[in-house]
Amino acid sequence: MSASVSPSPMTASASGPLAGVVDAPGDKSISHRALILGALCVGETRIEGLLEAEDVLATAAAMRAMGAEVTRHGTGDWSVHGVGVGGFAEPDRVIDCGNSGTGVRLVMGAMATSPITVTFTGDASLTARPMGRVTDPLGLFGARWLGRAGGRLPMTVQGASAPVPVHYSVPVPSAQVKSAVLLAGLNAPGETVVIEAVATRDHTERMLTGFGAALTVEDGAQGRVITLTGQPELQPQALSVPRDPSSAAFAVCAALICAGSDITVPGVSRNPTRDGLYETLTEMGADITFANPRDEGGEPVADLRVRAGALRGVEVPPERAARMIDEYPILAALAATAHGTTVMRGIEELRVKESDRIDAMAQGLAACGVQVTQTADSLSVQGRPGDVPGGAVVESRLDHRIAMSFLCLGLGTRAPVTVDDASPIATSFPGFHDSMRAIGARIGPTAP
Ligand code: S3P
Repeated sequence: MSASVSPSPMTASASGPLAGVVDAPGDKSISHRALILGALCVGETRIEGLLEAEDVLATAAAMRAMGAEVTRHGTGDWSVHGVGVGGFAEPDRVIDCGNSGTGVRLVMGAMATSPITVTFTGDASLTARPMGRVTDPLGLFGARWLGRAGGRLPMTVQGASAPVPVHYSVPVPSAQVKSAVLLAGLNAPGETVVIEAVATRDHTERMLTGFGAALTVEDGAQGRVITLTGQPELQPQALSVPRDPSSAAFAVCAALICAGSDITVPGVSRNPTRDGLYETLTEMGADITFANPRDEGGEPVADLRVRAGALRGVEVPPERAARMIDEYPILAALAATAHGTTVMRGIEELRVKESDRIDAMAQGLAACGVQVTQTADSLSVQGRPGDVPGGAVVESRLDHRIAMSFLCLGLGTRAPVTVDDASPIATSFPGFHDSMRAIGARIGPTAP
């Protein structure tokens, strides 16, 4: 993957008002799932608005290697001719998921109840991340695996030849783990039940239902109880992927950082399991409106407009963490420009993302002259509105969201901010640089 091959430093400098319309890329979570579920149907699934970023392209390659016919017809316009539930072929080479935790965990789940053996690997970030959270429940279906110490990639998974359905309470709030279990449950006879104490993004449940699986969700004493009936005949679909709220967040927060800005991001997903950042921004005093609400492919979407204005620091409660899990880095950057202190609690999961995001933000903000405190599960940022020094080179740590967060911060610092390697941005938002420049952001490759 491009992310560590040749570092490409990028610099952001103080910018005037940002104005115009931002084309946010397709939703990454939905794009992975569209390819995987398309591969589990017989017949053609058509996908419009697919995110063409490295993470998703790695999942497309994995589906091809496991027997699906995956074709690109034009920008974002893809089709998948799948193999049916239980129909995966054994790939004849290692599956490299690049930087993508979602890709590897969902594909592991999807293959774990088929009688095939697959070896997975990834880049330096992904091979450092824990896979035990997925292999533990997949073992209950009858799958076996052999990986590196601590359950790390590279790892070989041998799918169960006679899978049994499972009843599993997810021990960490993780849509990836929940989804891996549900995808494995597709090829197990009988009912697989997944219980999550805290609601996480529900795209897998929505999409499984859309593809014709029998799935129910009930609120029980222990949380959300999801029951899936195994071995359905999934029906191919025509899907339209909404714009990713986690990618839109960078343009939105950049607009809040640059005084006088007024931007619109059309077609952003308003899925209630993904809306935590927008709730937090409103509490901070941001002027955000959502116009033209509609439904796209089973997901609520709207056109988001944001206008800059003074913001105040807030306490983000732990209960909100699952609904804004990927947005803490950009919120931390924005908080540096707000009045007062922003405290983010209950965010220990950030330590096992593409990088240790609590530490990456704390170190990078400190280098930019911002006072920060981190604990095992929290981050607190002391705002310096109109007075963030910047003037630092920050490590992106193979993490797209860290790179984009510091480039957005640099639009409002006294001296420019450089990220040592912006290439990881291609894993989720390949057009970031062009989209941001189009609305007036001064972001560009660092002069050698
Ligand atoms: C994702 C779930 C989240 C999120 C990731 C995408 C998904 O991870 O951080 O970027 O598509 O299911 P966890 O479920 O591990 O929190």
